[in-house]
Amino acid sequence: MTGKFSERMYKALNEQIRNEYFSAYLYLSMSACCYAKNLTGMAHWFRVQYEEELSHGDKIFKYITERGAKVELLQIDRPPCEWASALEMYKNALTHEQYVTGLINNLVKIAGEDKDYATLSFLQWFVDEQVEEEANDEAIIAQLEMIGESKGSLLFLDRQLGKRKED
Ligand code: FEO
Repeated sequence: MTGKFSERMYKALNEQIRNEYFSAYLYLSMSACCYAKNLTGMAHWFRVQYEEELSHGDKIFKYITERGAKVELLQIDRPPCEWASALEMYKNALTHEQYVTGLINNLVKIAGEDKDYATLSFLQWFVDEQVEEEANDEAIIAQLEMIGESKGSLLFLDRQLGKRKED
């Protein structure tokens, strides 16, 4: 039951729900890793990110339903669970978001080719969100690179990141 979508748009949107929930799972795993390293501020930051990703998946769920189609939930892979340092974790988060940006761009491309203007409009929010998410990760990576081996500075940054509010 693909509603008002083309077959391939319907399939790609269902896959994107899975991708958003995988992102949630990845950030929850990063949160667990930070708690294990006593970086509780970063653990909180990744937990907020996890909650954001859940809301992204849910946005697509609601949209597919609104357009008269039935959501099909797909299998979610197991995320990694070990990173060598906070810097490696945020670098992985950035690489992942760049990958997600590519997926969103592909959805936009399909919607354009299908002349599916409602989905094009719906996807604009995700295009903007990706800009913000990549910028957030880049800023934290730059700070972690400046910090280097300084434990005191790392703890200071950890405290700052612990203040992140839900959007
Ligand atoms: Fe759902 Fe991290 O973008």
